[in-house]
Amino acid sequence: MHVALYERIWMWAAAVLIALFLGAIVVTTAVQAVEPPSHVETVDPAALATHPEFAQPAVTTRPDGSVIVPVVTSMYAFAPDPIQVPAQVAITFRVTSSDVLHGFQIVGTNANAMAVPGYVSQFTITFPQPGEYTIACNEYCGLMHHAMVGKIIVK
Ligand code: CUA
Repeated sequence: MHVALYERIWMWAAAVLIALFLGAIVVTTAVQAVEPPSHVETVDPAALATHPEFAQPAVTTRPDGSVIVPVVTSMYAFAPDPIQVPAQVAITFRVTSSDVLHGFQIVGTNANAMAVPGYVSQFTITFPQPGEYTIACNEYCGLMHHAMVGKIIVK
């Protein structure tokens, strides 16, 4: 079968591109730990009021000094609010929702998670220095969505 020269060039170019892209996935997964979220943890959104962690969400310090912050989002507030955490310490946020989909974005940082009813979104962040941060809900959740803000005080 005769394949024209330009056709062959483009076939090889496409094959090389596919190999490059697949290779990039393999390399970033193996070397740079770039992966999709794998933290899948469920919680009954209707039973949050009696949940040991989320019934009275409060900032707690682990024995190793790291801090864990359970957060319950609901129309149209974050709990706890304000959240007081220390600077230069790894802070693990565990965020869920008691009603509808909300957002949990710490403005001015790269921390940005969805608060999905039935699931716990978890991420860890370290604040380099003391200050105040705004938490914004960035998923439309109802008429007062624009007023759903919280505060983090880093000491
Ligand atoms: Cu909560 Cu928008």
